[in-house]
Amino acid sequence: MSFDLVLFGGTGDLAWRKLMPALFQAHRHGNLPEGGRILGVARDDLSDDAYRAWLKPKLQEADSAKRPSDADYEDFARRLHFLRMDLSQPEAYGRLRAWLESGRADTIVCYLATSPHLFPQICEQLGAAGLNDKRVRVVLEKPLGHDLASAREINRVVRSVFTEQQALRIDHYLGKPSVQNLMALRFGNVLFEPLWRRESIASVQITLAESLGVGTRGDFYNRTGALRDMVQNHALQLVTMIAMEPPSSNDADSIRDEKLKVLRSLKPFTEDSVLRDVVRGQYRAGAVAGVAVPGYLEEAKVPSDSRTETFVALRTEVQNWRWAGVPFHIRTGKRLAQRESEIVIHFRPLPHPIFAGPAQANKLVIKLQPEDGLELHMLAARGSASALGQQVEALSPVFLDLDFDKVFPTQRVGAYERLLMDALAGRLNLFVRSDEQEQAWRWVEPVLEVWKRDPALPKPYQAGTWGPPASSALVARDGCAWPEES
Ligand code: BG6
Repeated sequence: MSFDLVLFGGTGDLAWRKLMPALFQAHRHGNLPEGGRILGVARDDLSDDAYRAWLKPKLQEADSAKRPSDADYEDFARRLHFLRMDLSQPEAYGRLRAWLESGRADTIVCYLATSPHLFPQICEQLGAAGLNDKRVRVVLEKPLGHDLASAREINRVVRSVFTEQQALRIDHYLGKPSVQNLMALRFGNVLFEPLWRRESIASVQITLAESLGVGTRGDFYNRTGALRDMVQNHALQLVTMIAMEPPSSNDADSIRDEKLKVLRSLKPFTEDSVLRDVVRGQYRAGAVAGVAVPGYLEEAKVPSDSRTETFVALRTEVQNWRWAGVPFHIRTGKRLAQRESEIVIHFRPLPHPIFAGPAQANKLVIKLQPEDGLELHMLAARGSASALGQQVEALSPVFLDLDFDKVFPTQRVGAYERLLMDALAGRLNLFVRSDEQEQAWRWVEPVLEVWKRDPALPKPYQAGTWGPPASSALVARDGCAWPEES
């Protein structure tokens, strides 16, 4: 199979930070067909050689295992080309078409790594230039829109040019091996399914914590905020993976139909429940891993009176027979104590404890990053004898610990590498369908609306902590605690 991959936003942050490194790894792993071309598209005035020279030092900034040698890079760079385009000019798409025709590839993937407000224009122009035939797929980066109305408008235009099968909405969390493993855990094993329900599960906690701040993206982030940046997409996709019913097969629509049902079952927010069940925070100066860092309001390109949230904690429920009444607690934030993403499934306490020791011991910890693994926590007898007259020894907490990087030491690929390969191959399982995405916007929209009216500011938290105290109070209402507190 031959391919052309056109990268709109070819000199942007996403291109050099994530996409090109992923393509380089795919090339190095021998997964990219020989002769497949990669075309960077941007307004800059670069020749193919200048583009190759621009990218090289950026790829060489990677950690040593992923860093290309000069020879590796030369080999990869043969695929790279550059086309200067003003995306608003129809003639530019004519030149793109001419370039693509020179290759006659079987598959053309147009990856839109630009600001989402350009998506409709790019898609329309691709259509007008006849670049929407069966060979063409378009990949849309998040955030797709700013709210439900803008997401629908983008989807309307995309659908007027491409079929749903041709439009791939990316959520890179779905490409993480740990997230795919969640599907394997639930639907490749019989062990957990009988317990995977309200009768056995007391609560579900999702933490997506970052220690980094907003870095150079102050401008983008300030318009976006944590709810749009992390909850509407990544966190909700994880909720669907945890809560969905077993799909009838592993094909894309069977899976996405089940995920959509979960999104439709999320408890809708009301004005009262937003104020009660959603905490928003904003970081102040502090220290992360011993290094002093500025507060959000001091970050570059962030206005000093910004009300944008850098932290969200919320409580929701999935309103169906399997999950009724089980709290789902979600939190995410920048400049938290450490980079740690995990899902904790807390099982219910023993109905009738006969041993001394804790009564609520079982939990399954699904670690997404930095490690990728599973911990199954339980109680065990130490087996030691106690002296006469002393109390019987209490059971001790222990856990089974599975580290997937050790179990599968080779062949694990990063999220973008996996998703780019899927996009080239036309495998849609790990891409988000437009109805899923619109439903996710529908669910978060009342929160955005209440926040717009609410005069209260986001709650401050010191960088290097786990967010504002209100986040702990939120889960304490359900008798729960976040992992670092329990
Ligand atoms: C992106 C967000 O989608 O995900 C970023 O825009 C965030 O703000 C990133 O840092 C987190 O991804 P990961 O893979 O590092 O957890």
